[in-house]
This record gives sequence, structure tokens and C-alpha cells, in this order.
Amino acid sequence: MRPEVSESCESVTADGEAELVALALGLGAGARGGAGGLGALSAGELALVRMARARGLTARAQVAAAQAAIDAGEDPLGEAFCRLRSPVQRRPSGATYTPLPIVRAMVDWAAEQGAPTRVVDPGAGSGRFVVEAGRRFPRARLIAVELDPLAALLTRAHLQAAGLGGRAEVRVEDYRDTRLPAGGRTLYIGNPPYVRHHGVAQRWKDWLTRTAAERGHPASQLAGLHVHFFLATAQQAAPGDVGVFITAAEWLDVNYGALVRRLLLDGLGGSAVHVIEPTAAAFPDAATTAAITCFEVGAQPTSIRLRRVAQAGELGDLGGGRVVARERLHAAPRWTPLTRATRKAPAGWVELGELCRVHRGQVTGANDFWIADGERDAGLPAALLTPTVTRARELYAAGRALRDAAALKRIIELPEELDELSPAVRRVVEKLLARGRAAGVHEGYVAKQRRSWWSVKLREPAPILATYMARRAPGFVRNLCAARHINIAHGIYPREKMTGAELDALAAHLVENATLEGGRTYAGGLTKFEPREMERLLVPGPGLLG
Ligand SMILES: C[S@@+](CC[C@H](N)C(=O)[O-])C[C@H]1O[C@@H](n2cnc3c(N)ncnc32)[C@H](O)[C@@H]1O
Repeated sequence: MRPEVSESCESVTADGEAELVALALGLGAGARGGAGGLGALSAGELALVRMARARGLTARAQVAAAQAAIDAGEDPLGEAFCRLRSPVQRRPSGATYTPLPIVRAMVDWAAEQGAPTRVVDPGAGSGRFVVEAGRRFPRARLIAVELDPLAALLTRAHLQAAGLGGRAEVRVEDYRDTRLPAGGRTLYIGNPPYVRHHGVAQRWKDWLTRTAAERGHPASQLAGLHVHFFLATAQQAAPGDVGVFITAAEWLDVNYGALVRRLLLDGLGGSAVHVIEPTAAAFPDAATTAAITCFEVGAQPTSIRLRRVAQAGELGDLGGGRVVARERLHAAPRWTPLTRATRKAPAGWVELGELCRVHRGQVTGANDFWIADGERDAGLPAALLTPTVTRARELYAAGRALRDAAALKRIIELPEELDELSPAVRRVVEKLLARGRAAGVHEGYVAKQRRSWWSVKLREPAPILATYMARRAPGFVRNLCAARHINIAHGIYPREKMTGAELDALAAHLVENATLEGGRTYAGGLTKFEPREMERLLVPGPGLLG
């Protein structure tokens, strides 16, 4: 039997949906408008309408308030939708709605390109883009494409309430299936859904590979749905069309994003990319770096403007940015570094990598087994138990310096040759290894790469330890107790001997100047610094330290 609580939650959601549908109907979602306006309801939408009518809900009282909010340029339907469906429920369809100031900045850019004859909003949600564009371009035909019938009904209602229904069409279909007749100069504008490749059906992955290959581009099956939308747009669009999409910024750097980068250089005609720092909360549900990409279809760009902004208010009409030449863009494996102004180091400053190597800590392959458990591993001598930083939070908690290893966990460090151990210790270790074999630890990928599967071999203590993956700037900590570290931290090792005072000064500089800049931010807001990225941080040179 299913728990009562989930049944009641479901019925609350169903009631909420019915109310929202009733509100949408009250605002005119069911109207077909004049001359074919809005188009017929899809089967999915009709089912929702029947459900709402069966419950006898009219929501008349709310209609006037919603109409007034829409007249004032707000999106009460989209807001209600986001309250009704939690971020977790919306994730599989990538439904994250765009804050209106960002929608307006993107429409401003579109207006600068000249009024389009037609506007296409792929993945329209509640219709924020198509409505804003419809208001700005009073003669344009409006097409919203949306797969979710509830969202599609909201877009209909939004368009109708905004007085745009007569020149709008809502298509409830997969955008990759959308085939539009020739329709004059078209603006593609919107927020393609962010869905990771795990949520993309195999047939669509095959479509991506095939379609990209037809255009002469390789494609990765690991591509997220937003990459599919860029490709579908390249397929649909004609020379002279323009577009502006907001997406997560991942595609700038990751391998699967190479297809978008290629399309922008060849076919989609990229003109600008504006990277929005997570602080601007471009996607309210996810602290993610966002990118607004502007393109002019058919153009072979000789350069693309790249810009970073910290706040949505800085977007303006999407002007400005560093002009980066096509050749550099072609050659660069990642575009994020190109969004940053060339850093001019103060005199005497160097990249951290000139002073130190940065190494990720050792991978144990089985932390549960190799991090000693007081009771289970009580028989092991202290010499085989190495105090080790095993969690990033231990570094954050340490503040500027880790002075005492007593509170740290111990990693079991065994020699490659067990003959080195005394017979008594050897017996305890053999018991441990028997347990490890029984648990399959010896068959793990990492264990199999070692000369002796049981010998974890931690790196030497690093005088400075750093966290490298968090929703905050990396933490740098002087390691004054010779603790080792596993792969949750990086170790910073001087290339030439440095005095304690110099190491203190270096660590202090890193702490005081640490930002998220230089790392890669992933969806969800995690920023990660690979060792080579950390080595690029600018620090005072040897003569200026200590
Ligand atoms: C990121 S949301 C954007 C919503 C709206 N444009 C906005 O920015 O406020 C993406 C939308 O795409 C829709 N969607 C997901 N997969 C789709 C597909 N294959 N074809 C069309 N729409 C899709 C989702 O239901 C969701 O409403």
C-alpha cells in the first residue's frame, strides 16, 4: 500500500493543476483566436481541460488579478507553475524559467538586430520570451514550441491575455521535430531546457550524431538537451535569421560542448557570448554559470565578442565584450578563459605554477575500506595509520592553518612488500586483506592499477593544502602537522625550497585573493579547479614573499 501522505500530496498537486488550468482557461487559453490564432489544443492539453472541468473549478476570482499582473508585464502563470511543481519535479524536463530582466535584455538585443517577421520560442514554458517579443515586435508572427501540455496551456493563456493570441501559434511537440514553413526573417529566442544526457533518449542521441555528421561536425552522445536545441535551430534556421539563447555555460568548456562551439563558428554565426556569474542567479533553481549566446545565422564570424557579467543588471542590451578572433576560438579547447581580460600581472608577480606544483591527493579507490575505522582496525599499529585530510570540510574548519592531526582520520598505509612487517603485525594485516578481498576491494579499478593492490601510497605531506571543488572559493591552509591528503584536496608543493615565512605569506595571499575565477562552474553551482587551473593563479614572486 502506498503511504497516505504521498496520495494526499498527489491530490494536492492535481487540485493545483486543475486550478491552474482553470485559470488559464479563464484567461482565454481555450480560444483559437481569429485567423487561426493559437491553433487547436493538443490531446494532452484537452485531457487537462477535461480534468479541470470535471472538478468544476472556474477560478473566476483569480482571473482578474492574473490579467492585471500580465498587463503589468508579470508572469503570474509561470510563477504559479513553479510553485506547483518543485525544482525536483521540473528537472526531468529542464523547466527552469528565466527571470524577466534577463528576458528583456535578450529581447533588447533582438530589437537592435531589426524587427523580425517571425519569432520562435523553443521550449516556451509559460511563454515569457514569446510574449515579451510579441509586445516588442507588433507585426511579428509568434510561434511557441513546448512539449509539456500544462506549460503549453499557460503559454496560450499568457499570449491571449497579452492580446497577442491572434498572431500566435502554440505547438505542443518536441522542438527537434518542429518543421516550420518559410516565414521570413525569424528570431529564435529562449531558454532551451537543461537536461543531462542521462535524461536524453537513445534515439535522440542517435539523431544528434547523425544530424551533426550531416553538417560535418562530430557530436558527443554525452551532450545535454540544450545542445540538441542549438543543433535543431541550426537545422531549422535560414541565412539572415538571428537568435539569442540562454543556457548553462558548460558547453563553453566541456567536450560535448564542442558541437555548439563549432556551430557558432560554422553555420549558426555566433556574434556574442555573455557569461553570467552564478551570483546573478540567472537560473533561480540552480546556482549555475549561465551563458547568453547571440547568433546571426549564415554569417561566418571572423570574431565573437565574449563578456562576463556579475549581475543581470549589467547585461544592458548585450553589447560590449572582448573581441576574440575566429582562429583563437577555433584553437581553444575551452572558451571560458577567453571571456576573461588578459591578466596583467603586477611587476614581480608570477603564476603559482612557477613557484609550486599542484597535485591532487591520492585516490584510494575504496575510502570505506582504507579510511581506518577505530573499532574494526583497532589491531593495526600506529605506524600503518597515517593522519590524513579526507574531507574538504576539515580544511575549511582548520581556518588558516592545520596545526594538529589528532582529529583527522587515518588512512591504512601498507608497504608493497608485506615481508617488511613483523610476524605479529603481518597476521593482523592478512586478516584485514582477507576482509578486503571478501568485499572485492582488490578488484576495484584503482586497486588493480597498483603494483600491490593493498598499497595506497599517499603523497608526501604538502606544506599548503587546498580545496578545489565547492560552491565557494577554494580554501588554502598551511599544513603545519604534516598531514597527508586524499583526492578531496590538492597539495601545493614548492619547486624550490621555501622558508616557513615564505610559505605562510604565499598561503595568506592565496586565502585573501581566492575567488571562483579560474575554475569551471558546473550546473548546480559547483566550481572546480583542476591542478593546472590552480597553477595559473597569480601570486607575488619569490622576492615579494616573506
Ligand atoms: C528552461 S525551460 C524555459 C521556459 C521558458 N522559455 C523560460 O525561459 O521561462 C525549458 C522548457 O522546455 C520544455 N521542453 C523540454 N524538452 C522539450 C522538447 N524536447 N521540445 C520542446 N520543449 C521542451 C520544458 O517543458 C520547459 O518548459
